Amino acid sequence: MLNVKGLYHSYSKDEHYAVQDMTFQVEKGEIFGFLGPSGAGKSTTQSILFGLLELQRGEVSIDGMSVKKLSDDFFNMIGVSFESPNVYKNLTGLENLKFYSKMFNVATEKPEELLKEVGLGKDMNKKASQYSKGMLQRLVFARSMINNPKIWFLDEPTSGLDPETASRIKAIIKRKKDQGTTIFLTTHNMNIADELCDRVAFVNDGKIILIDTPQKLKLRYGERSVKVEFMDQEKLRTEFISLVDKQGQSQLQKLVETGRIVTMHSQEASLEEIFISVVGRGLI
Ligand SMILES: Nc1ncnc2c1ncn2[C@@H]1O[C@H](COP(=O)(O)OP(=O)(O)OP(=O)(O)O)[C@@H](O)[C@H]1O
Ligand SMILES: [Mg+2]
Repeated sequence: MLNVKGLYHSYSKDEHYAVQDMTFQVEKGEIFGFLGPSGAGKSTTQSILFGLLELQRGEVSIDGMSVKKLSDDFFNMIGVSFESPNVYKNLTGLENLKFYSKMFNVATEKPEELLKEVGLGKDMNKKASQYSKGMLQRLVFARSMINNPKIWFLDEPTSGLDPETASRIKAIIKRKKDQGTTIFLTTHNMNIADELCDRVAFVNDGKIILIDTPQKLKLRYGERSVKVEFMDQEKLRTEFISLVDKQGQSQLQKLVETGRIVTMHSQEASLEEIFISVVGRGLI
């Protein structure tokens, strides 16, 4: 669905690259996570993919159409939810969506329905200037779905939202995936990536470090261990025991034989810990 080959971008048009030699494909119906710290080049890449930034070097095609030849067909099939909400502040939420829907020459979704879905049903007739940051973000999110896009670009779709609203947004993303939408999701948030993405790309300093499924990354990089709580002279103690080496295995066996274990849980490395161990830095 999305094919990217040898992508480079330099804002200063010299040898300082914000994006360097990126090559990847995203399959139809896949949620592909683009993960990396601030300044890694995520938004720059995303902007090139949907034609907002000029393609300087490399190849990008969506559903067989090159971004070099932008056409109505291209814009009709993409949806973009920007990191910083760009809406008409003097229009209401509903008027914003109605106005935007006229820009497409394909069938569009009902603005009222979309606004209800993202939890703005009660506020759809308020001017966008009166919306909070989270409400604006949801307005932009709803707007990006109006043309029922084949490929949907989401930049930090849940950042700054309360947990309940974030769950609502995540449920919409999952439903769209089930309906066959291809989703390119940019985020710092490893929990969201883990929960939603079929595959993730770790990005740092403008380069892709690796691409894999969250499950495989955990198997490959996550050290298998168990957290054991046990009674030790009337006191509850906690130990993390590695299952990888012989020493850990025999320590665990001995503890089991004492019959003093209270709880035992297997531990999995989080995607965030894996990012730090692979890339050598955290996500902030
Ligand atoms: N308009 C611009 N002009 C010049 N440099 C820019 C511009 N936009 C981004 N950059 C630089 O390009 C690099 C990549 O920025 P980009 O916005 O793509 O990062 P990001 O991964 O999206 O970060 P964040 O997580 O903070 O959104 C950074 O070094 C940034 O300073
Ligand atoms: Mg960004």
